[in-house]
Amino acid sequence: MITKLVRIDELHMDEAAICEAGRVLAGGGLVAFPTETVYGLGANGLDSEASSRIYEAKGRPSDNPLILHITSMEELYPLAAEIPKTALALAETFWPGPLTMIFKKTELVPHETTGGLDTVAVRMPSHPVARAIIRAAGVPIAAPSANASGRPSPTKALHVLEDLDGRVDMVVDGGTVGIGLESTIIDVSGKKPVILRPGYITEEMLASLIGTVELDPAVTGRPGADVRPRAPGMKYRHYAPKAEVTVFLGSPTEVCAAIEEALRKASSAGKRAGVLCTEESERFYEAPVKKCAGSRNEPESVARSLYDVLRAFDREQVDCIFSESFEESPLGGAIMNRLLKAAGYRVVRCGETSPPG
Ligand code: TXA
Ligand code: MG
Repeated sequence: MITKLVRIDELHMDEAAICEAGRVLAGGGLVAFPTETVYGLGANGLDSEASSRIYEAKGRPSDNPLILHITSMEELYPLAAEIPKTALALAETFWPGPLTMIFKKTELVPHETTGGLDTVAVRMPSHPVARAIIRAAGVPIAAPSANASGRPSPTKALHVLEDLDGRVDMVVDGGTVGIGLESTIIDVSGKKPVILRPGYITEEMLASLIGTVELDPAVTGRPGADVRPRAPGMKYRHYAPKAEVTVFLGSPTEVCAAIEEALRKASSAGKRAGVLCTEESERFYEAPVKKCAGSRNEPESVARSLYDVLRAFDREQVDCIFSESFEESPLGGAIMNRLLKAAGYRVVRCGETSPPG
């Protein structure tokens, strides 16, 4: 398959290109497009064959359900069997935007789209290009992040092509996305709302609107026999570059010292090491490869560049990556959730154990 690359500028929307993307989707094809969070790989979410093509292109396990993307509240009613008041309040405040809600599904939604579950994930994105394409397709668009399964999510069209060139019909390049982490997922299908995946819309923001919100234990802990994530996708190693990642936990000073020590050990073992650091700490390290993921004082900048930086290490062919940690801010929880998954939960608690060689 030859993948067609088209550029659509959100400020000067190319109507012909939008219509073409809509036609491909309506015809059962695959189109990758930008959203405000990450690039999505779209297909007609009500067509089981089109949804199945997404799993094939990404190499995604078939039990991992997809999110349906819509552009108006009217499009939600045919998909969700029950819409609780909390969901309406959340939609009022956070839609369109980076929030996904899980509802009990209707018959209309095929099990191929929901990974066999009786619930369905729905999101109304705010990115003008995403909205125009969904409207042109005229159907709810199932769209996981447009990466090969297990890889960091794409924040640029180039990342999509790295993983999916020749495997999808069309890639729409709408520039670099604004947020850089996938949407917050909240399950509103049960008695109490539960966050299944943290994101830009934080627990505090949700709680201030609807009161106490529970956090799925798998969000902070390593999924194991006792902690089974309710979002099936969260159980897989994810967001991972090719080199082994170790996350150093602790105060910035302790972390810096421990990473320097780890760099010395890596160097004497003949390993090419990379450091994932911040503008504040970059100058302290002497490392074969350094990648700065924004400023510690501006967690939004770290969220925006995290996946780009993880992918950049691959191009530098490092053997191991030592990463600083980002626990301090509300958004830090979402950043750490992704980083720990990328590391397969390989951490060093600075001050407790000695760093690995
Ligand atoms: O920001 C985003 O949400 C991006 C953009 C493209 O919209 N999409 C995205 O999709 O991150 P994906 O497929 O990479 O992640 C969807 C997550 C998976 O962890 C999946 O298991 C979970 O949502 N999920 C989907 N439907 C679910 C359901 N019915 N119940 C529980 N978890 C669900
Ligand atoms: Mg994904």
